[in-house]
Amino acid sequence: MKISIIGTGYVGLVTAACLAEAGNMVICVDVDEQKIALLNRGRVTIHEPGLPQLIARNRRAGRLAFMTGYEEAVQHAEVIFLAVGTPSEEDGSADLTHVLGAARLVGRHLRHPAVVVNKSTVPVGTAARVRAVIAEELAARRVDIAFSIVSNPEFLREGSAVNDFMHPDRVVLGYDDTESAGIMRELYIPFLRQREQLIEIDTHSAELSKYAANVMLATRISLMNELACVAEAVGADIEAVRRCVAADPRIGPLFLQAGIGYGGSCLPKDVKALIRTATQSGCAPHLLKATDAVNEKQKSLLFRKICNHYGGPRRLEGKTIALWGLSFKPNTGDMREAPSLALIEQLLGSWCRIRACDPVACDEAARVLRKAHGAVKFAERVHLTRDPWEAVEGADALVLATEWKEFRAPDFSRLAAGLNDKVVFDGRNLYDPQTVQAAGLRYYGIGRKA
Ligand code: UDX
Repeated sequence: MKISIIGTGYVGLVTAACLAEAGNMVICVDVDEQKIALLNRGRVTIHEPGLPQLIARNRRAGRLAFMTGYEEAVQHAEVIFLAVGTPSEEDGSADLTHVLGAARLVGRHLRHPAVVVNKSTVPVGTAARVRAVIAEELAARRVDIAFSIVSNPEFLREGSAVNDFMHPDRVVLGYDDTESAGIMRELYIPFLRQREQLIEIDTHSAELSKYAANVMLATRISLMNELACVAEAVGADIEAVRRCVAADPRIGPLFLQAGIGYGGSCLPKDVKALIRTATQSGCAPHLLKATDAVNEKQKSLLFRKICNHYGGPRRLEGKTIALWGLSFKPNTGDMREAPSLALIEQLLGSWCRIRACDPVACDEAARVLRKAHGAVKFAERVHLTRDPWEAVEGADALVLATEWKEFRAPDFSRLAAGLNDKVVFDGRNLYDPQTVQAAGLRYYGIGRKA
C-alpha cells in the first residue's frame, strides 16, 4: 500500500518505520528541513530501541523515504497519516494548529481519493474539523475528490514503541463513514494476533478512548502516590500494600508504582486536556482534577523530604546533591515533564550544586536546563555525566529520580564511603531499605517503612 505520514516526531517515525517493515511504500514528510536532512543521512533524532535499525533497513529496501515536499507526499499516498504534535495551550487544552495545518496541506495537494488517518492525540470532534478543513480547501480549488477520515489513536509507550506497534494490544479505528474500513483493516491485520484486537467504532469514541486510557493510567499512579502518603503516615509500607492489591486479577500488577509523579509527553498533557474538554462540555471532572493536583504535589515530595532531613531549605545551601536519572522514565532520552526537572529547580533555588547522571538524557537535559536557568548558572551549579560514580564524587546525598537498570544494584558500601552525609532519597522505591541501611546509609523512599 502507498502511505504518507505527516510529521517525523515520535509517533510519525515509529508508524512510518513499522508500516514500511510490513511491506508498504512509505513517505514521511516534515516542515523541519534540518530534521529531514539528518534522517536522510541516517541519523535518528530520538532515542527509541530498535528504531534506527528498522529505519535503516527499510530505507535500504526502498520502502521508506523522508522529504519536505508535501505535494509529492500527498500525491503518493492512498492513506495519509497525520502524526503531528498537539502541545498544551496555557489553559491546558490541546493546540490543534499543526493538525489543522497538516489537514489544509492535504486538501491543497490531494489529486485522487484517499483516506486521511489522524494519529495525533486530539480532542473529541477533531475528525470533523479535519474533514471540514480538507473540504474547504478542495472547494477553493473547485475540485470534488472523495476522501474519508479515520481516527486511529496510538498507544505507544516510549522505550518500547516499536514493539508496541508491531504487537499491539488493540488497534482502535474510528470511522466517520465505513468506506475506508476495508483499506484500514488490510493495513493493520498483519500486526494482529487475532481479529478481535481490531476495535472499530465512531470517531468521537475513538478520540475519547485515547484520553480515557491515559487518564486511567495517570489516576492509578496518583492514587498509589496518595496511598503512599497514607502508608507513611500510619506506619505501613506501600511496596507491601502494592504486592497485595496487585494480586487481585481485577486490579492487576501494572502502573501501581508509587514515585515522584508521572511525566512524559502524554499523561500530564492528556489529563489537563480532558479536564478542559470535560469542563467545556458542562461536566465536573473532580477526579481528573485530583489526579493532576496529586501529581503536581508529588513532584515536590522528594525536595520536602530532603529539606526535612536537613532541617529546612536554608540548611541546603552549599550542599552537593548527586542525582541518578534525569529522563521522565527509563529507556528514553525524553525530558518532557520529567519530575527530575522540578527537583533540580527546587534544589537550585536552595543554592545546592547538582551532579546528575543519566545514561541517555544528558544532552537533552543540558539543553533544557541552560534554557531554564541560563548558561552561567547551569555551568556553575550543574555537572552532568553518564557515569553514576562520577556523579557521586564529592556529593553529600544521593537522589534516585529515574529507575534506569544501571542504577538498580549499586555497591552500597561504595556509596556509603562516597557520600559525605550518608543519605539516599529513593524517588522510585528501587532499593530495599534494609540493604541500604545495612551499608550505613540513611534511607528515604516514597511511602516506605524504613
Ligand atoms: C504513555 C502511555 O502509556 C501510552 O500508552 C501512550 O500512548 C503515551 O503515553 P509514555 O508517556 O511513554 O506512555 O510513558 P508511561 O510508560 O505510560 O509512563 C508515564 C509516566 O508514569 C512516567 O513518568 C513513569 O515514570 C510514570 N509511572 C508509570 C509511575 O510513576 N508509576 C507507574 O507505576 C508507571
